[in-house]
Amino acid sequence: MTVKSWRGVWVVVAVMVLCLCARAQTWVTPGAVWHDTQGKVIEAHGGGILHYGGVWYWFGTDRDPKLDPAKRYVRCYSSRDLMHWRDRGEALVLADPEHLGAHWKLERPKVYYSPATRKFVMYMHLDDAHYRYAHVGVAVSDKVTGPYHFVESFRPLGLGLRDIGQFVDDDGQAYLIFESRRTGGFFVARLSADRLKVERPAVAFVPAPLEGGALVHYKGLYYVMGSHMSGWRANPNVYATAKRLGGPWTKFREIAPGSKDTYGSQSTFLLKVKGTRRTTVIFMGDEWRPRALWDSRYLWMPLEMKDGGMLLRKPEAWRIDAKTGVVTVK
Ligand code: GAL
Repeated sequence: MTVKSWRGVWVVVAVMVLCLCARAQTWVTPGAVWHDTQGKVIEAHGGGILHYGGVWYWFGTDRDPKLDPAKRYVRCYSSRDLMHWRDRGEALVLADPEHLGAHWKLERPKVYYSPATRKFVMYMHLDDAHYRYAHVGVAVSDKVTGPYHFVESFRPLGLGLRDIGQFVDDDGQAYLIFESRRTGGFFVARLSADRLKVERPAVAFVPAPLEGGALVHYKGLYYVMGSHMSGWRANPNVYATAKRLGGPWTKFREIAPGSKDTYGSQSTFLLKVKGTRRTTVIFMGDEWRPRALWDSRYLWMPLEMKDGGMLLRKPEAWRIDAKTGVVTVK
């Protein structure tokens, strides 16, 4: 064999090994480094998911230390099976649009689709170094993967805001969840048809000072979830339920009674997967590493939903058949 043909053989072998690795990666391992389909580490922290045209799009902050420190980045990944995520690049690249200073913050981006305008609208928490600005920022795109263009920032209902969350009900109505320090609680407010405005009055005010707010509508009950306030440090996340969004809400209970700190994670989103055989709710949390935010891990785990309660069991490797909704734990 000539040197040239040996090279060809090696290329074929390398491609086969890569394909096998991609195939073998059929388990989600909570807390492990998660790679995209190209083998690069997924950077999508404090994220949210948009299900559009049969594809799931995962948006989150890209904290790669190699990026321009003056800018903030939201990265997008897409998947048809929730197991393999393809990198779709930076959906938003923003340069301090409100002049908040070197340490300005962009956190917890969430993307909505507006059937009325056929545009995609990204919400994000914008803040200064000391979290005093407390605004929500809005950016718009014609394409789901971006680029998103910054429109404005404001205080929804005139209230200072911290963590935001996203909820879209089964009837397609979209809501913004946001925590507001002064009120000692958090709000669930309807978005306008073009998704650009937060409508008054709020649909729900939950008098519990919770961050990382998330919501899901499952079998006739609304489940609201959040964490206590301990910054990047994990704490016992809690949930309450109600028959109507406006309440009344039950008392809050812990989602992971077997763990004092939600297995080291903080809620960011509740993903409902309606399969042909079952509806599964996936807890999406962040395991923050404040000194190396880019290395923060994702704790995704299907929740046990039973008798009007939800339970986050000890994280283990799992997979889902996105068609049937059936989950297998390794
Ligand atoms: C967390 C919050 C994060 C980030 C952090 C900063 O409680 O959920 O999004 O703001 O505090 O300390």
